[in-house]
Amino acid sequence: MTTSIAILVGSLRRASVNHKIARVIPELAPAGLKFGTVEIAHLPFYNPDLEEIETPASWATFRRTIGEADAVLFITPEYNRSIPGVLKNAVDVGSRPYGKNVWAGKPAAVISASPGSVGGFGANHHLRQSLVCLDVPVLQQPEAYIGEAYSLFDDSGHLTNDSTAAFLSAFLSKFDAWITIHCRP
Ligand code: FNR
Repeated sequence: MTTSIAILVGSLRRASVNHKIARVIPELAPAGLKFGTVEIAHLPFYNPDLEEIETPASWATFRRTIGEADAVLFITPEYNRSIPGVLKNAVDVGSRPYGKNVWAGKPAAVISASPGSVGGFGANHHLRQSLVCLDVPVLQQPEAYIGEAYSLFDDSGHLTNDSTAAFLSAFLSKFDAWITIHCRP
């Protein structure tokens, strides 16, 4: 059986280290997990007025994509001790209209990464705060704060740090087990 996991990355930057992490996730994950990165850059800022006229097509597609995924993996930078606006917007778009929150009950995990030593702890926990509100069962342990992240990849985007690779593999195995508990019958 295949489990589909939607990856949301909170960076728009071409050379994003968070996107580099997203790209190595499939090779580090247990068999049976299928990953797809979901675009969020094009989503209009959430505005309830737009729903009253006609739901933007990009919102409807995004909600359907998240709704069809078995689980969600968030990989995010930290911007000023929080998550980037583009990711918060995606979270908000999926949460509405009221009563149709696509995140509810969807198993999720959070990885934050930063060139700094704290590894985006603030962003990781700000995101978790919203996910609690949205009734998302978020993997608790291990926590994934990837610090000094620029030093972990070579120029071609290969993950060259063995302990980070081992950590991410273990993290993804735990996430797989978490999905089993919260999603599969
Ligand atoms: C940052 N950066 C940053 N880093 C950090 O560890 N804590 C922070 O609070 C912030 N704040 C912040 C705000 C803004 C507006 C920018 C543009 C950047 C630095 C950030 O971690 C760095 O640019 C990362 O490389 C961003 O991740 P990506 O784009 O490489 O995935």
